[in-house]
Amino acid sequence: MRTRVAACCCCCLLLTAIAPSAVTADKAEIKYLLYCGGCHLPDGTGAPPEVPTLHDVPGRIESMKGGRDYLVRVPGAAQAPMTDADLAVVLNYLLARFSSATLADDFKPYTGKEVATYRHDILADPLKRRAEIIDANR
Ligand code: HEC
Repeated sequence: MRTRVAACCCCCLLLTAIAPSAVTADKAEIKYLLYCGGCHLPDGTGAPPEVPTLHDVPGRIESMKGGRDYLVRVPGAAQAPMTDADLAVVLNYLLARFSSATLADDFKPYTGKEVATYRHDILADPLKRRAEIIDANR
């Protein structure tokens, strides 16, 4: 009995130690699947040309002038029913998962505070803005 209690305590301590990062990663994935994956698909491939892929391109756009706020201001992201902090977590998740190959070495993860500064300014014509950013960075 005593061994069992000790083993159980050990397990709890271990779980507590690994829980915070595990919860954040799981939370990001779950939120992505719930609020983004319906259009962008669970594997991020989307349905081009209507729904862009999240593979590689967002990583490139992020480091372009005007790109960082663009990624937050597209309607699907800006209007998602989640807090600024959660949207930051989901954007960081999708960039790390699908766009890590093109992400700048000095990429700084989004914070909820930063997301809050861009998010209210939802893009009325995201495709036009996207083309402007890409053209200006050619
Ligand atoms: C209803 C479908 C839909 C949902 C849900 C959706 N998106 Fe999108 N997303 C689009 C479409 C369509 C575009 C292309 C721009 C536009 O027309 O809005 C886009 C563009 C994007 C882009 C820019 C990609 C590029 O290459 O320009 C990002 C980043 C993005 N979405 C992130 C998200 C995130 C994060 C979520 C979830 C919080 C999400 N989207 C939910 C449809 C959706």
